[in-house]
Amino acid sequence: MSLEQIIKNTIIQNASPIGFDEFMDLALYHPIFGYYRSGSEKFGEKGDFITAPEASDLFGFCLARQCAQVLNGTNDILEFGAGSGVLATQILFELGRLNSLPKKYYILELSGELKHRQAQTLEKVLPELVDRVVWLDELPVDFSGVVIANEVLDAMPAKRIVYKNNQFYELGVDCHKNEFCWKMFDLPYQNDKVFLPNNMIEDYKTEINLRATAWVNSLYNVIDEALVLLIDYGMGRNEYFHPQRLDGTLRCYYQHKASENPFVNIGEQDITTSVNFSDIADQASVSGFKVSGYATQALFLISLGIDDYLLEQPDEDKHINLAQQVKQLVLPSAMGESFKVLALSKNISVKLTGFVEQDLSGKL
Ligand SMILES: C[S@@+](CC[C@H](N)C(=O)[O-])C[C@H]1O[C@@H](n2cnc3c(N)ncnc32)[C@H](O)[C@@H]1O
Repeated sequence: MSLEQIIKNTIIQNASPIGFDEFMDLALYHPIFGYYRSGSEKFGEKGDFITAPEASDLFGFCLARQCAQVLNGTNDILEFGAGSGVLATQILFELGRLNSLPKKYYILELSGELKHRQAQTLEKVLPELVDRVVWLDELPVDFSGVVIANEVLDAMPAKRIVYKNNQFYELGVDCHKNEFCWKMFDLPYQNDKVFLPNNMIEDYKTEINLRATAWVNSLYNVIDEALVLLIDYGMGRNEYFHPQRLDGTLRCYYQHKASENPFVNIGEQDITTSVNFSDIADQASVSGFKVSGYATQALFLISLGIDDYLLEQPDEDKHINLAQQVKQLVLPSAMGESFKVLALSKNISVKLTGFVEQDLSGKL
C-alpha cells in the first residue's frame, strides 16, 4: 500500500481530520515509506534540495572554527540529522587541522538509510577518523561539548493554523472523495506555550512548531555543559508573522522545484516550515539556556573568517570555484540572509567568534 493510502486510511479510521503535524510526521518519517526513511537521493544536485554543507566545505570548516572555541580534548560533538554525512567530514577534517578534535563525534539520526549513507561518506573521506564517530538512537546523558543541528528544526513536524473571526483555528488534513483537503477544526486553537499574534487579516495562515520547542527543552535536560548551534532558514517573530506573509511558510521541495502543496508526491518530496527563532529562543530561556548569539548565516561565516580560505587558495581555478561557493553561502540572494544561526549555551561562558560581526539576539 502506498504512503498516500496509509495516511488516508489513518484519517478514515479516525473518522476525523489529523493535525498537519501528524500528516507531516507520516509523510517524512513513516518507518518504511517516509521521505527521510526511504532510499531516494535527497541532498545535492541529483536530489531535491541543496543544504549549506552540500554547497561548500567552507561551511563545515567555519563551523569547526566555532566548535574549536569550546572543545577541550575531553568533550564531544553531537550532530542531529546529519544528512549525507558531509558536514561531519568537514568539521572533523578542519578540527584535525586545528588540532582540536572532539573525543567522540556523535550523530543522532532518525533514518537507518541515512545512517548507512553517513557511515559510507565518513569511511570514504576520513577513514582515519571514522572510529571517533558513534551513532546514537536516543539523546545521550550528561553531554558536554558542542551540539549542531543544520536544517533540522525546519524538518520537525509543525501545526498549521488559520485566523478567522479574530481567533486562530488549527487547520487539519481531511480526506474527501479519496482526496486530501484542509479542514479547519471546530474549536479555536489555544496554546500558552508559544506567542500567537492578534488583529491578523481574515484567513491569514501560519505555522507553529511545538515539537521544535519541546526538543529544545529535552536537549537542555541532557546537557551538562555545551554550546548548541542551530542553523536554519527562519526569522524572528515580527517577520514570521508579517501581515504580508498571508500563507505562512510551508514549502515542499521535489527535484529542486518548490511548491506549497504537501498533498502531492507524498513520501517523495521534502516538506518544511521556516523556523520561528523567537519561539526557539524563548523556550530555550525558559528551559535554562543562555541565548549566546543570533546572526545571519552570512555574518556568522564572515565572523569566522570564511574569506581566509579564499585568500589562502593559490590555484586560480580553485580560487574561482571557492569564490562561487562563498557567494552561495553568504549572498543575501542565496543562503546568506534567509538562513540564521542561533547559539544557545549551558554552563559555557566564551565570547563566541561567530557573532563578533553581528549579534541580533536582543531583537528576537
Ligand atoms: C533537511 S535535512 C538536513 C540534513 C543535514 N543536516 C544537512 O544539512 O545536509 C533534515 C534532517 O533532520 C533530521 N531530523 C528531523 N528531526 C530530527 C530529530 N528530532 N532528531 C534527529 N534528526 C532529525 C531528518 O531525519 C533529516 O536527516
